[in-house]
Amino acid sequence: MTGKRLHPATIAAQALGWADATTGAVVLPVHVATTFLRDPDNRYRRGRSYGRADNPSYDQPQALLTALEGGADSLLFSSGMAAAAAVFQCLPREAHVVAPRVMYWGLRNWLRTFAEGWGIEATFCDMTSLDALRAAVRPGQTRLVWIETPANPLWSVTDIAGAAEIAQRAGALLAVDSTAATPVLTRPLALGADIVMHSATKYLNGHSDVIAGSLTTARKDEFWERLVAARSGGGAILGSFEAYLLLRGMRTLFPRVERACRSAQQIAEALSADPRIAEVLYPGLPTHAGHAVAARQMTAGFGGMLSIRVAGGAEAAIAAAAKVEVWQRATSLGGVESLIEHHFSIEGADSPAPPDLLRLSVGIEDPADLLADLDAALRP
Ligand SMILES: Cc1ncc(COP(=O)(O)O)c(C=O)c1O
Repeated sequence: MTGKRLHPATIAAQALGWADATTGAVVLPVHVATTFLRDPDNRYRRGRSYGRADNPSYDQPQALLTALEGGADSLLFSSGMAAAAAVFQCLPREAHVVAPRVMYWGLRNWLRTFAEGWGIEATFCDMTSLDALRAAVRPGQTRLVWIETPANPLWSVTDIAGAAEIAQRAGALLAVDSTAATPVLTRPLALGADIVMHSATKYLNGHSDVIAGSLTTARKDEFWERLVAARSGGGAILGSFEAYLLLRGMRTLFPRVERACRSAQQIAEALSADPRIAEVLYPGLPTHAGHAVAARQMTAGFGGMLSIRVAGGAEAAIAAAAKVEVWQRATSLGGVESLIEHHFSIEGADSPAPPDLLRLSVGIEDPADLLADLDAALRP
């Protein structure tokens, strides 16, 4: 790519402008080799020895993600969970960590089930309040503050710069699950975070056909070297074809996310005025508790995720989800197709989601079709 300072949308569309040096192909080949030739003098001058550590198919998507997040380096993992788990597993022991009460339930479950066995004590706090975070950290003991913003499934917002300052004062790292925000809307490293994590399964890939995860670091330091070693040593690696599909998805990240944001805002505003909806949870609405912070740290929109509370209660919510024809009734988020989910059915009694809540992942369809479908589904 040229030496000019280009906008992130250009960098993403051209995937850094890399072309194959041998053939001139504008799409790089997918490398499937599991092993690499050793030089006759017993060295590996080309820098790669074995596919688990050195897969060339990671180079371009990792470099692109690093550029979009404004970081120093990135690592792809076999899933978002593998990426997140690696961060916790690489902490020095004994480790105290602070995580949000409202967060991706799978990671909360993992922390509750496995953290203790790893020598990690987890405190869960209300991450919408910097005072609550300040009270939860233990200076000198807390190794990591983990935040997610906007956070599943209430789309609560955490002040990243404020959390970074608190973490830093306590001597802890700040890691941000930025899956819902994407680098299109928020760049946590520029706000003081140390690590950004994505479930790349979601917006980065965008087509509901790859499970992948990523970490991006602000600095290539000792902790990052541990993460690099943990991925190749632990083996939670992405397949080469998945890395290729992920890169292909990332090239359309900007138009997909921008479209999803516009539609989500429109849907959120329309449903706010609908008497069949008790509450719309979307950071783009001035009525949302996190709106002011979101307006500061999210650019170009408030994301494609929102939740609605159906006035008729849990039964009416489940009935509405049963009747949609355009929205797909499925879990997950961030794909080109819009998804609807009765969230309490996924998380169960432990959920911060009230039983009347439907989680909506807005895709790139015509928003008029999405609204008409919801309108029909909400009719008694
Ligand atoms: C916000 C968030 N973080 C992490 C994950 C876990 O990612 P994966 O399913 O890629 O392991 C998910 C998955 O739903 C998620 O929504």
